[in-house]
Amino acid sequence: MIRTVATKPFGDQKPGTSGLRKKVPHFQQENYAENFLQSIFDAAERPAGSALVIGGDGRFFNAEVIRRAIRMAAANGVAKVIVGQNGILSTPAASNLIRQRKAAGGIILSASHNPGGPDGDFGIKYNIANGGPAPEGVTEAIYKRTQGISEYRIWDGDAPDLSVVGTSRLGDMEVEIVDPVADYAALMETLFDFGKIRAAIANGLTLRFDAMHAVTGPYAHEILERRLGAPVGTVLNGVPSEDFGGGHPDPNVVWAAPLVDLLMGPTAPDFGAASDGDGDRNMILGRGIVVTPSDSLAVLAANAHLAPGYAKGIAGIARSMPTSGAADRVAKKRSIGIYETPTGWKFFGNLLDAGKVTICGEESAGTGSDHVREKDGLWAVLLWLNILAERGQSVAEIVEGHWAEFGRNYYQRHDYEEVDKAAAEELMDHLRQRLASMAGQRFGTLVVSEADDFSYKDPIDGSVSTGQGVRIVFSGGSRIVFRLSGTGTVGATLRVYIERFEPDPARHDLSVEEALRELVETADVIGEIRKRTGRAEPDVRT
Ligand code: G1P
Ligand code: ZN
Repeated sequence: MIRTVATKPFGDQKPGTSGLRKKVPHFQQENYAENFLQSIFDAAERPAGSALVIGGDGRFFNAEVIRRAIRMAAANGVAKVIVGQNGILSTPAASNLIRQRKAAGGIILSASHNPGGPDGDFGIKYNIANGGPAPEGVTEAIYKRTQGISEYRIWDGDAPDLSVVGTSRLGDMEVEIVDPVADYAALMETLFDFGKIRAAIANGLTLRFDAMHAVTGPYAHEILERRLGAPVGTVLNGVPSEDFGGGHPDPNVVWAAPLVDLLMGPTAPDFGAASDGDGDRNMILGRGIVVTPSDSLAVLAANAHLAPGYAKGIAGIARSMPTSGAADRVAKKRSIGIYETPTGWKFFGNLLDAGKVTICGEESAGTGSDHVREKDGLWAVLLWLNILAERGQSVAEIVEGHWAEFGRNYYQRHDYEEVDKAAAEELMDHLRQRLASMAGQRFGTLVVSEADDFSYKDPIDGSVSTGQGVRIVFSGGSRIVFRLSGTGTVGATLRVYIERFEPDPARHDLSVEEALRELVETADVIGEIRKRTGRAEPDVRT
C-alpha cells in the first residue's frame, strides 16, 4: 500500500560537485533523505516501464537509506529496481549496470572519499541513463523540487532482504538483487588482456592494492587475486566496513601513508595502488615513485593503445581545468582532441557520449574512459598493469621516459580545510576583483600573462558554467588556480593548484617542493591565504 507523508522543504538540499553531501546526523533528520529522494523521483526523467539502479559504498546509513529508496521507488511507479547485494555497488559498477540494463538512471549513495560512521559523511547522487552523474540542468531541477516539496510517497511494507541475490516484488515493482562484482569484472575482461597480466604476475610482477576498508575490496579480491592470480594478501584492507576502519578512504599520500611507505621502502613491490570509499578514485605508485594523478592521466592516454579495448587508439582526452597540462602535451603530439572542463565528472559525460574523447581525468585521483560514465579506480589500476605487462619496464622507467618525451609538469594541490566560509568567499571575491588588472604584473621572477575566472561552454549542448575557479597564468606556462570545494561538508575548503612546466630533461629530477617554491610563495602573496584564513600551512598537500 502506498502511504503519502506530509513534509516541509529543507533549505540546504542543493547538490554540489557530486550530489548532496552532508554529515550523517544531518541526513538522519526526519524526512531529510526522503525529501531528496522524492525530488529525484519527481524531477528526473523516467520513461514508463524503465528500471532504476540503486547501490552505495557501504558506509554507515547506506543500507537503511537503500531500503527507504526501494520502498519509495515502489510507491512512485518505478517498474523495476536493480540493487547491489547488501546495498553495495561501487560507483563505476553502478554506472556500468545503468548502461548494461538500459536503466533510466541510478541512485548512488556515497560520500566518496569522505570519512564514514555515525559522525561521518553521507551522500545521495543521481545518475542519468548514460550512466553518468546528472548534469547541472537535472540537479537544478531536483533542487528546485526540494524547495517546493510538501509530501513524499513510500510503500508501506518492508523492502526485501538485501543479502539474498534474486528477484522479488514490492507492490507492482520488481526488485532484483544482483552480485555487485560479476558484471563489472566481465566488463574489465573485455578491455584488458587478462592473460598477459596474469602471465606477468606469474613471472614475478609484484603488486599491492589498498582497498582502504571501502567498497573495492570485493572487486579487487575477485579481479586481482582470483582472475589475475595475484597471491592472496595482494589486496590490503579488503573487507568493507561502515566507517572505513576509522580512516579517510581517500587514496593520497596522507591517508594511504602505509601503502606509500611500503612502496618507498626496501620490500617494495613493483606496483602499488589504492582506491577510495566508492571505488571511483585511484592512486598509482611504483617502487620508489608516487605517480601524480595528472601524470598518470597523461601516461595512460599515451599508452592506452597497448590494451585491447583501446587498440584502435583514443579519440581525444578531457581533463578538468585544475588538472595539469601534461595530458595536453600527449594530445598535441598525437594530434587528438583535448578538452578542458570544470571540476566534476559530470562535465565529461557529453564529450564521451559524442565520441569526442575516450579518456578523461582529474587531478583529484580520478581517471576513466568511455567504458562507463564515471571515473573508475580499478580500471586505472588494470590499464597500468596491462601497460606494465606489455612494456616490461618499471613504473619509474615509464614515467621518466614520458617526461623525457613530453616534458614534465611539476604539480601540487594544497587544501585548506574547514576554513571559515565567509573568509574563504571573501578571499575568492578579492581575487576576482583584481583579475582585470593582473596581466603584466610581476611577482619575483614570475610575470602574469593571463588571469580569469574559468567559465565553460559545453561544446555539445551549449550550456554555460561560470565561476569555476580563478586562474593566474604566468609567462612560460606556470599557473596557480584557486577554487572552493563543492564537496566539503564543514565550512569551506580552499584548494590551491600549483603547476610549473619544465621541458628540459636535465631539470626533471628536482623535488616538487624545490620546483614549485616560488609559485607557492606567490600563491600566498596573490591570494593572501595566511592573512585571510589564518592558516600558515595547508592541511593536505597532494
Ligand atoms: C572534488 C574533486 C573533484 C571531484 C569531486 C568528486 O571536488 O576536486 O575533482 O570530481 O571531488 O569526487 P571538489 O571538492 O574540489 O569540489
Ligand atoms: Zn569517490
